Amino acid sequence: MTGAILPGDSTTKLKEFTVPEPGHGEVLIRTKASTICGSDIRCIYHEHLGQGPERYQGVIAGHEPCGQIEKVGPGCRRYQPGDRVVVYHISGCGVCNDCRRGYMISCTNKKYRRAYGWQRDGGMAPYMIAEEKDLLTLPDELSYVDGAQVACGFGTVYEGLEKIGISGNDAVLITGLGPVGLAAAVLSRALGARQIIGTDAIDERLQIARDLGLCDHVLKAGPDNVDQVRALTGGHGVERAVDCSAHHAARRTAVQATRKWGRIVLIGEGGTMNLNPSPDMIHDQKTIFGSWVTATWRMEELLERLVRWGVRPADLVTHRFALEQVGDAYALMASGKCGKVAVCFDEELVSA
Ligand SMILES: NC(=O)c1ccc[n+]([C@@H]2O[C@H](COP(=O)([O-])OP(=O)(O)OC[C@H]3O[C@@H](n4cnc5c(N)ncnc54)[C@H](O)[C@@H]3O)[C@@H](O)[C@H]2O)c1
Ligand SMILES: [Zn+2]
Ligand SMILES: [Zn+2]
Repeated sequence: MTGAILPGDSTTKLKEFTVPEPGHGEVLIRTKASTICGSDIRCIYHEHLGQGPERYQGVIAGHEPCGQIEKVGPGCRRYQPGDRVVVYHISGCGVCNDCRRGYMISCTNKKYRRAYGWQRDGGMAPYMIAEEKDLLTLPDELSYVDGAQVACGFGTVYEGLEKIGISGNDAVLITGLGPVGLAAAVLSRALGARQIIGTDAIDERLQIARDLGLCDHVLKAGPDNVDQVRALTGGHGVERAVDCSAHHAARRTAVQATRKWGRIVLIGEGGTMNLNPSPDMIHDQKTIFGSWVTATWRMEELLERLVRWGVRPADLVTHRFALEQVGDAYALMASGKCGKVAVCFDEELVSA
């Protein structure tokens, strides 16, 4: 089979691999959709920048895979060939404290913690091996492209929003309207938020948020954003803010445009942040949360809720590519002039 790797110089490379055999507790998945995350661009595509859990080891790329089980190895307990599954994108040891909480993202066992598309083969190939314990059932109502986005982006956002709590009481500010920020808008709305304000530096991203009706107001990123958000919220600021940009100025905007007693969650990764703690946080009694991916149980819960809410993550996908065009897919995502970008196989490619 052909699989895509990322050499780290803003290109992709297709290489031949043998179709792997599932070992004990593993399954062979026929990949149907594999979406691209901002983290792939930041840590791997332009340069291999990642360290520790973000260090890329030359494997088949793609940490947002979704597909159908082709074969199960010995010792599997839950899944059968034909089952439709989402791959929680980090395989942990399964027995450390973090893994036991379902947060395999923070598995503390250096030998066994391996993320798909980073340290073990991921979704940019027609087949992949996954451990059965890393799989979630994709509900019949959702497509494989819906599921691929849950594997990282939507799962991550749901976790962050659950940490700060979102309800019909809240106006929500989202800084950065890449696929993660757009997902934050979709899920904030589903959780009841009545006023959603988004900011981004790229016009195409603001346009997508506007066209899909995801935000009530979109603002071009700039030094006036705090005043603009206050003006839209009766002078008070928002109750909740979500940074999905990782940009230092946007992070400061998220904190300063949040009202007294408000909560902010940082999802965008990397970079720095410069705050003046007394006026920005302490005197206004604000709380900042950090949030890293999610737990398997919460991802399972999100899949159920998406069906209940009638929310389809695939609506954020603006471009689908065949694996042969994987280079165009990564280049487009790196340009930012798109919503979510998906590499698709079989029926997910023809339903584009
Ligand atoms: N915490 C986690 O577990 C987790 C999981 C997945 C992704 N991420 C991170 O989330 C971030 C978003 O992911 P994505 O896939 O949407 O990536 P992305 O790079 O496509 O999106 C970032 C967006 O922020 C915008 N931006 C840049 N400067 C800005 C500013 N000053 N104000 C407002 N917007 C600004 C960019 O134009 C871009 O649209 C990335 O940093 C990614 O690494 C974190
Ligand atoms: Zn990701
Ligand atoms: Zn572990």
